[in-house]
Amino acid sequence: MKSALITGVTGQDGSYMADILLEKGYKVYGMIRRSASPNLWRIAHILDKIEILYGDLTDQSSLDNILRKVTFDEIYNLAAQSFVQYSFGAPVSTTDITGVGVLRLLEATRQYAPGARLFQASTSEMFGKIQETPQKETTRFYPRSPYGTAKAFAHYSVVNYREAYKLHASCAIMFNHESPRRGEEFVTRKITKGIAEFKKTGKKLSLGNLNASRDWGHARDYMEAAWLMLQQETPDDYVLATGETHTVKQWLEKACEFGGVDFWDAYTQNPAFERQAEVDYLKGDYSKAKQVLGWEPKVKFDELVKEMVEADEAFINNSLPR
Ligand code: NAP
Ligand code: GDD
Repeated sequence: MKSALITGVTGQDGSYMADILLEKGYKVYGMIRRSASPNLWRIAHILDKIEILYGDLTDQSSLDNILRKVTFDEIYNLAAQSFVQYSFGAPVSTTDITGVGVLRLLEATRQYAPGARLFQASTSEMFGKIQETPQKETTRFYPRSPYGTAKAFAHYSVVNYREAYKLHASCAIMFNHESPRRGEEFVTRKITKGIAEFKKTGKKLSLGNLNASRDWGHARDYMEAAWLMLQQETPDDYVLATGETHTVKQWLEKACEFGGVDFWDAYTQNPAFERQAEVDYLKGDYSKAKQVLGWEPKVKFDELVKEMVEADEAFINNSLPR
C-alpha cells in the first residue's frame, strides 16, 4: 500500500487530495497545525480514514520529526498562507510560511526522505503582470504581491533541489481553482455565498475590482493532475488551467443568473477590497499537461458556478456544518 503525506489537508485542495488518495487505496497522513478552534469541516467525512500528524511549515523540527517518523512514497505540499489580499498586510509571515516553509520541507525531504516524490503547489500569481498570453511553463514570472514573490521563491527552490539533489520534486503552476470547499474570503465563494445570503436577508455583497480576469477551474480536477504528476518517471513542472478566462463581473453575473437574483440589486462596489497591485488578466495554456499527463480539466465555467451557487444555497438555508 502506498503512503502519502498531505500538508494543508484542512484546506480546499488538501481535502480533495485526501479523497482522491483514499479512493486509490493509499494510506493517507494529513499534516495539520494546532488551532484554538476545530477547523476540520472539509475532512470531517474522512477523519476516521486518515492519520493526523501535527506540524507547521514555520517549524523545521516539526517537519523533520514527521519525515523521520513515517516513510512516505509521496508528499503533497498544499499548505500555504494562500490569500493574496492578506499577504499585503502580513508580508513577512506569508513569506515565512509560503516561501521559506517550502525550503524547510525540501530540507527535511532531502535529509530524511530523499526517495519520496514531492508535489509543490505553485501558482499563476507568479505571472502577475503578465509577459505573454496565454501563460505557459516558460512565461517569465512578474509577481505582484508578497504571496506571489514567496511562491516564486518556493518554485525556484523546488527546481533547485530537483537539480542539485536529484529529488523527484515537481511543481504545478495552478491557475485559480474553486469548489464548494473554497475559503469564504476568495471572490468566487464570497459571491456564491453572498447571493444566498442576499436572497435570505437582503444584505448586499460588497466587492472590489470586477474587471480582473481569471482562469477558473475545479479544485478536484487539479488534484487529479497533481496525482498524475507524481506517477511520472521524470519530475517536471506543469501549468494546470482551463484555457478560458472570465472577469469577476462575469462570475457575478452568472452566479446571479443561477441564483435567480437581479445582478444590479445584489452588490455594491467597495474600494476596501481593491488590491495595492492587481493581477489583471490570467489565462493558462495547459497543453504540456495534456500531452504528457493526458490530463484535461473536466469542469468548465458554467458548471463550476452552478455547483457553488447550489451548494451555498443549501449551506445558508440548512446551515450545513462548516
Ligand atoms: P487553503 O484552502 O487556503 O488551504 C491552505 C492550507 O494550508 C490549510 O490547510 C492551512 O491550515 C494550511 N496552512 C497554512 N499555514 C500553515 C502552516 N504554517 N503550516 C502548516 N499548514 C499551514 O488553500 P487551497 O486553495 O487549498 O490551496 C492549496 C495550495 O495551492 C496552496 O499552497 C495555495 O497557495 C496553492 N494554490 C491555490 C490555488 C487556488 O486557486 N486554490 C491556485 C494556485 C496555487 P489551516 O486550516 O490551519 O489554516
Ligand atoms: N477576494 C476578493 N474579494 N477578491 C475580489 C473582491 C473581493 O471582494 N472583489 C474583486 N476581487 C478580485 C481581486 O481583486 C482579484 O482580481 C480577483 O477578484 C480574484 O481574487 P481572489 O478570489 O482573492 O483570488 P486570487 O486570484 O487573488 O488568488 C487565488 O488564486 C491564485 C492563483 O492565481 C488564490 O487561491 C491564490 O492562493 C492562488 O495562488
